Amino acid sequence: MKALVLSGGTGTRLRPFSHSMPKQLMPVGNKPVLEHVLDNVRAMGATEVGIIVNRWAPEIRSRIGDGSALGIDVTYLPQDGPRGLAHTVIVAREFLGDDDFVMYLGDSMLGDGDLAEISAEFQRTRPDAHVVVGKVADPRAFGVVELDRDGAVVRLEEKPERPRSDLALTGVYFFTAAVHAAIDAIEPSARGELEITDAIQWLVSAGARVRASQFGGYYRDTGRVEDVLECNRKVLENLRPKISGAVEDSELIGSVVVEAGARVVRSRIEGPAIVGAGSTVVDCRVGPHTSIGDGCVLDEVAIDYSIVLDGATLTRTGGLRASLIGRHASVGGPSEGGTRRLVLGDHSRVETAA
Ligand code: DAU
Repeated sequence: MKALVLSGGTGTRLRPFSHSMPKQLMPVGNKPVLEHVLDNVRAMGATEVGIIVNRWAPEIRSRIGDGSALGIDVTYLPQDGPRGLAHTVIVAREFLGDDDFVMYLGDSMLGDGDLAEISAEFQRTRPDAHVVVGKVADPRAFGVVELDRDGAVVRLEEKPERPRSDLALTGVYFFTAAVHAAIDAIEPSARGELEITDAIQWLVSAGARVRASQFGGYYRDTGRVEDVLECNRKVLENLRPKISGAVEDSELIGSVVVEAGARVVRSRIEGPAIVGAGSTVVDCRVGPHTSIGDGCVLDEVAIDYSIVLDGATLTRTGGLRASLIGRHASVGGPSEGGTRRLVLGDHSRVETAA
C-alpha cells in the first residue's frame, strides 16, 4: 500500500500564520503536524509516500527531505493550485499506478487511536474504498457520511447545511485503483474543486463496496488556532519526561521535557510541558499544556495552555493563556496582573506600557 499525503492547499483559516508558513508545519508538541501524519502513515506500513505540495513546497521539502529520517521514501508531487482533494489523485496518478493507497490530509491530527488496525482491515478485506470517520459536534464544516447498520457507506455529502449524521470524514481514506474511474467521472463542485467526497459518492451509487470505520482516538482538523492548541494539549498528555538541558533553582512538576542546551532558572514548570533546545526560561511559570520551541527566551512570564514557536522572545508579559506566538515574535512588558490571550504571527512585535 502506498500513501498520498496532501500538503498543498491555502490554509487561510490559520491566519496570521498562513502568511508565513504552511499550516502542515505548525508545531504540535514541538513537532510539525505533517510529521505526526507521516508517523501514522509509517505505522500503517506505508513507506512509499507521495506528498502533494504547492506554494510552500520549499519549506516542506527543507523540513521533510527525502523522508529517510522518518523511515519513509518521499516523492514530491507539485499541484498547480488548490483544485480539490480528488484533483491531487490525478496529480499522483503515475506515482500511484494501480496500487492500493491511503490518502491522508496533511493537516489532520488523529491520535491515541487504532489507525493501524483500520489499515490492516482495509488491506485484508479490500473494499473499493474505506473511509475513517469520527463523531463531531458541528458536522457542517466536514464531509458527512451516512452508514447502514453493517457499517457500509450509503451516502456522503461535502459540508452540508443540514447534516444527516454526526459522522465526519476525518481526512484518512483508503482506496483501491477503482477510485481513478470515479474521479474521471465527476465534475468540479460549486466551490470549483474536484471533491473526493463526490468521487466516493460516485462509487457508492455505482454499487461499489465502500466501508467506514469510526476512529477510536481523538481527531482534529488543525485549520484553526483553537484546534492547534487542543491538539497540543492532547499530544503533551503522552509526553515522557526528559531533562537534557540545565535546570537551576527551579521546580519541575509532572511530565516535563527540557531539551539539550536549554536553561531553566528560578522557574516553575508544570507538566506536561516542553522547553525546546537552546531556549532560556528565567523567573517564569510555564505550563501545564505548553510547548516552548527552540531558541526562545522567556523572562518573567507566566504562560499556560499555549504554544511558543522557535526563536520567540517574551519579556515581563504577565499571564498568557491559550496563546500562539509566532516564530521570532517579540513581546515585551512591563505588564501587571490579569491573564491575556495573544495570537501573534511570525516576527510580530508587541510592547505593553506600564
Ligand atoms: O478535515 C477533514 C475534512 O477535510 C473532511 O471532512 C472534508 O470532507 C474534506 O473535504 C476536507 O475539508 P477541508 O475544507 O478541511 O479541506 P482543506 O481545503 O482544508 O484541505 C485539506 C488538506 O488537503 C490540507 O492539508 C490542504 C490539502 N489540499 C487541499 C486542496 C483543496 C491539497 O493538498 N490540495 C488541494 O487541492
